[in-house]
Order: sequence, then structure tokens, then C-alpha cells
Amino acid sequence: MDLSDPLVREPLLERLAKLEARHWTATPGVGKGTSRPVTSPYDRRVVVGKVYEASEADVDRMVRAAHAAQPSWDALGGEARAKLLQRAADLYEEHAEELFSLCIREAGKTLVDAVLEVREAVDFLRFYATEARRQFSRPLPLPGPTGEHNELRLHGRGVFASISPWNFPLAIFTGLASAPLAAGNAVIAKPAGQTPLIGALAVDLMHRAGIPKDVVQLAPGSGRVVGGALTAHPLLAGVVFTGSTETARMINRTLAERDGPIIPFIAETGGQNAMIVDSSALPEQVTRDVISSAFQSAGQRCSALRVLFVQDDVADQVIDMIAGAMEALCVGDPSKLSTDLGPVIDDAAKKLLDEHVAWLDKNARKICRLDLSEETARGSFVAPAFYEIKSLSQLNRENFGPLLHVVRFASEDLGGVVEAINATGYGLTLGLQSRIDTVRDFVQQNARVGNFYVNRNQIGAIVESQPFGGEGLSGTGPKAGGPHYVARFATERVTCIDTTAAGGNASLMAALEG
Ligand code: UN1
Repeated sequence: MDLSDPLVREPLLERLAKLEARHWTATPGVGKGTSRPVTSPYDRRVVVGKVYEASEADVDRMVRAAHAAQPSWDALGGEARAKLLQRAADLYEEHAEELFSLCIREAGKTLVDAVLEVREAVDFLRFYATEARRQFSRPLPLPGPTGEHNELRLHGRGVFASISPWNFPLAIFTGLASAPLAAGNAVIAKPAGQTPLIGALAVDLMHRAGIPKDVVQLAPGSGRVVGGALTAHPLLAGVVFTGSTETARMINRTLAERDGPIIPFIAETGGQNAMIVDSSALPEQVTRDVISSAFQSAGQRCSALRVLFVQDDVADQVIDMIAGAMEALCVGDPSKLSTDLGPVIDDAAKKLLDEHVAWLDKNARKICRLDLSEETARGSFVAPAFYEIKSLSQLNRENFGPLLHVVRFASEDLGGVVEAINATGYGLTLGLQSRIDTVRDFVQQNARVGNFYVNRNQIGAIVESQPFGGEGLSGTGPKAGGPHYVARFATERVTCIDTTAAGGNASLMAALEG
């Protein structure tokens, strides 16, 4: 969608303004739940809708209903499931404006981010549909000696819990639900506590596309009640999660305590992402890419740039240019097209970021920190800030917001920089700006990261072109939107038939006679 075209943009903005009157509701797949209003992170007086949160008993009934419905969903096969997922993608596109509206109002996304979010969600549906066709439509023939027929088939495992984050409340929510669905599983989709309404619209569109109600169910509620009841449920067959490393550890512990089968856990977690800039890099390009990597989506992407390493020979100039570009960023109401950064998700997130800024004020050199306008007074806003620190080891956790750090390095110490990045234990995204091929080869060979971006920004991985996900503390893999993802949700069954048992190898004899 080309927002630079006034013929596209103006009517869209009018329709989005009208959609502000809509009041949205999210309810659990089964049960009534307890209601609570959902408000906007940019202005807490704005009520977007109401969520009915599921109880532990509701979760139990949902899992049981899903468990009963799963075998016939699996029996449909890859082709039929692919058609339904494609139909869901079509409906997402038809309802794109409602989805944009919710991205902006419930999650505080800018319009540009909202457009990208819907595009990514549709990409996930279509890509996993294609994967269902590729891997789940027919058995894979396997080799063997004459007189023996071998084949491998993939099947759904049962009921998956899909536990989603608020930062991609539609795209990741949809990815985490549609991959297990593609593989023949039923799904209980738990949206983040902050963003249940967009999750509810997504599940509604999946139902309207023809995916049975019991096969994909919304489970709004807190991590403690709904997440806890889901991950401990004896009938659960797997968990797919995107969120913090701490929550992933908690889920892992709950899973470890379960009796019965040991089930898969697929987690995509945090990062401490760096970008390395050497003296051969083009400063204008570095500036553009640093600004989008660190500040787009108010820095609330796990792919976002947190620590910039600049070769000391060019550091003063590069740092000045970035600070200059930051001055042009507009922070405020995300429904305005002029806004570059909206709010952070809530006051708890703001508090952590404000605490980190207070720590930086004491322990680092402030390069630039924007002032916030009046417009931000009623929401959870954090001013974009840029600080120089001495070393990466000074940071002991991910700061999930518009805060950028810079460290200078000497050209002969490139190896030390890569070692320091590896030593964080995370391994999600890494950017490199350099025009020297041997530098790129060196970093590529030595950095332990999932997504390495050269001479561009390091956010905005595209489904299928840049499968996304990290290693180490950043996640278990396989990569979302990649060729190995959907199979991880499946169980493998092999059939071996002795074709001679009926009195000889009929096909071989027929061939000889022929
Ligand atoms: C995340 O923030 O959890 O590359 C994932 C990107 C997005 C994925 C981010 N496609 O920025």
C-alpha cells in the first residue's frame, strides 16, 4: 500500500478516522470470562474495546474441545488446509483497514508499521499454506531394497498453545497460529495481555475462512492464569512462543514438570543486537539504517539495533550525523502520518526504560535525547535517546524501546568486537556496514547470530526471503517464515511394507516378464 500517494492515503485516513468509533470485543473460544476495558497506549482515556479473560476452567474446556476436533483437521490433509489458510489471507486483506485501526489504537503502532504488520501476517498465512501443500499433501517415498515399499508422512501432533507478544500483535500472532494449523494441529492462541482485540479479529477471520471454531480458539488472559493453565494441561502437544527470555524459561520449567509425553517447545526470544560500522562505510547510509533499526516501531522489535559499534577513525562524524537525524524524529500520536515513533506499550515498559535512562545518565555520555511534546502527556511515551558507553559488557539486559548505545572500536580490534557480541549469549540480528568483502567474510564466519544484515537496516525480515530467529539466548529455532519451520510442528510416521509377502515381488516380476 503506497502511503506516499495522496489518492491512496487521504481516503484511507478518512476511513480510519471513522473506524475510531468502533468498540471491539475479545472473548474466549469457550466460556464467558471476566471483562476488562482495553485502552490505547498513546492516550489512556481512549477505550478501544473490552476483553473477557478466560479462567483456568475455560482453558481446560478449550483444550478438550480442540483435542476432540484435531484428528479430523489433521485428516483433511495439506491441500485442504492450505486452501483455508489462503482464504484467511484473502479475508485479512479485505479487512486490512480494521486491522490497521486496531494496530494503531490498541498497540500504538504508526500507520506505516500497521501496513507492514498486516502485510507480514498475510505473508505468514500464504507461506505456511504453501508449506502445508509441499510437505503434508502426499507421503515422501523413501529408498529401500527391492520388495520393500517405504514412505514417510507428516501429521499434526495434537493441540498446540501459541503464546504471542504484543509487539507484533497481528503478524506474530498469526504466524504462531497458522504454522501449527498448517501442520494439522489444533491451536489455542493466547494473545498478549495488552493486545487481545486484534487477536480476536484475526481468529474471527480464520473462522470466517472456514477453519473450524474448535480447531483455532482465542484464549485471552494473563500469562499467569491462561499461560499457566495451558502449558500445564495434560492434553497439550506443544508450545510455540515469542516473547522475553525470562518467560520462555518459565514455560520451559512448567513443561519439564509435566508427566506424560515430552512435548516440543519452540521459542523466539530477546536479543542484544549490534551493528558494526567500519571506516569504509557510507555515513549517509549508516545514518538512515541506524535510525530505522533503532527507532522504527519505537525500538520495540526484538530485531532492533541496541548497540552500535563505530570504528574510532570515523566515529565523531557518524555519531554527529545520527544525532542530527534523530532531531528530525517526531514522537506522538501514532494515528498522525507525521509521527515517526508512537508510545511504548504500557507504563511497566516505560518504567524499565526510564530506569535504564537514569542509569545511563550516571554511567554513560549523553549524545542526544529528544524532548517530548505535550501530545505525549497522557500515554506511555519514552523519548528516543542515544548514549555512548565504554563497552557492551556494561549492558546486562535487553532494553526494549527507543534507546541506542554506541561503542567506539579500533580497526585492529574487529575480532574483539565480534567476541564481545557473541559473549552476550544472545544471537538474533547483527548489522554490518562495510564496503570491504574480507571484513564481511570475517564477521559472517565468526558471529553467532541468526540474521546477519549487510549494508542495510537490520529490522523487517520478510517471510521466506529472510527467515527470522536467533540462537543461544535468542531462541530455539527453527526460523519463522523458513523452510524448516512447519515440519517442527509435525510428528513423523514411517510405513514399511514387505511387498513380497503376498508371494513374490509382483512389480519386479512384471517388469522382467515385460
Ligand atoms: C520480533 O520483534 O519479535 O525482522 C520479531 C523484524 C520482524 C520480526 C521481529 N519481521 O523486525
